[in-house]
Amino acid sequence: MKNYLLHLDDKLLAVIRRIGKESEKKQFSAYIVGGIVRDIILKRKNCDLDIVVEGDAICLAKVLGRKWSGKVTVYKKFGTASLKTSKGLCVDFAMARRERYAHSGALPAVRPGNLKEDLRRRDFTVNAMAIAINPGCFGWLVDEFGGLKDLSKKTIRVLHKQSFIDDPTRILRAVRFEQRFSFRTEKQTLLLMKAALRKKLPSNVKLPRYFAEFKKILCEADPLKCLKRLHQLDRFHFLDSKLKVRVRNLSLLHQRIQKARRKPLYGQGNWWLIYFLGLLGEADDRVVKRVLMKFPFTKNERISIQQSRKSSDIIRKLLVSNLCSSQVFRILRPLTKEAIYYLRVLSFRAIISRRIDRFLAYDNQVKLCINGEDLKKIGVAAGNRMGKILEDILCLKIDKKISSKREELKAARLSLMNN
Ligand code: CTP
Repeated sequence: MKNYLLHLDDKLLAVIRRIGKESEKKQFSAYIVGGIVRDIILKRKNCDLDIVVEGDAICLAKVLGRKWSGKVTVYKKFGTASLKTSKGLCVDFAMARRERYAHSGALPAVRPGNLKEDLRRRDFTVNAMAIAINPGCFGWLVDEFGGLKDLSKKTIRVLHKQSFIDDPTRILRAVRFEQRFSFRTEKQTLLLMKAALRKKLPSNVKLPRYFAEFKKILCEADPLKCLKRLHQLDRFHFLDSKLKVRVRNLSLLHQRIQKARRKPLYGQGNWWLIYFLGLLGEADDRVVKRVLMKFPFTKNERISIQQSRKSSDIIRKLLVSNLCSSQVFRILRPLTKEAIYYLRVLSFRAIISRRIDRFLAYDNQVKLCINGEDLKKIGVAAGNRMGKILEDILCLKIDKKISSKREELKAARLSLMNN
């Protein structure tokens, strides 16, 4: 039997061997399952180690947690546990289970089962393989549903006809895997997927769950491919039936995002949200209002969406000639990082890019030497007025009109006298 684990790096291999040995000692059978198996076969990097145990998964996680001085979080109700080792590796343990869906889109009821039943409940054949890790069969592939053949044929295929009905989030997953790996969705699977969309089954899923899966698409290395495919299949109706998206504009935005992301200045950011702002770019206010009400955005995401609606106005302000640095600062400072990034990729004008880059790299980093306490000492009470004085002094510093603490205090006194 071929050992599928031999080419893994030594550290990961040692961890897996140890899990297998402990499982054997307890007379359990442990397997690596899901996406990591697919990626091991494709020789793609994946550090999400998911272990299914025929036996007590929580007990196994606890034993290993003690051995590795790791932190174990137990989800007793689901028979699962997460182990974070002191070296930062995360391993998820779950008992082998079978599932039943009470209705389309519901969370499944789970009962203990064996490995085959656990694999049968999964989304696609390529994600329904396991690799045994107990010592006697270490590295052996368990492929009950033809996953290996589908991987070699670059095919996404569901395991049974009910798959998209049981769990309509799999429509988004199919698109994500199809586009990520440049696979094709098998004919029957595609028909089932289109039928589920025609019947509007995604609306059966709780919105936060559906949105979480959509967010994964926007977090892909190349979301544009997935977005084009989704547009072709569904026109983003799950976001709002009146949402109009022009693929050409999305493509332009994508190109500009890719270019900006290569710059160290823009390395860190919630880029998924910038794609989302782009999707809403041509929507009218009523659509945006509905989307904001429908989905579980964080406060920062909500503000970014609202601010992005004013992008054209802000760009107009930023285009005014002879703006000094502090004027740009005053325009951009109230905006979230994502709203600023969005402006940066939305505008084609070099002057806008230059001004935003300068703001992010320098002006937004400028700090005052004085603070509220210093102002109190010269008689300014805490409150809006203090905030305004501090901002005015900061602007003087950004424009390089002052630099030392002494000059800052002098400017504060002057401002106090004039206001
Ligand atoms: N799974 C499923 N149906 C879902 C979600 C997940 O059957 N709706 C199963 C699949 O076997 C999947 C595994 O759970 O491989 C792990 O899910 P997840 O971590 O979401 O996906 P990965 O396949 O690991 O994908 P990625 O590489 O994006 O992490």
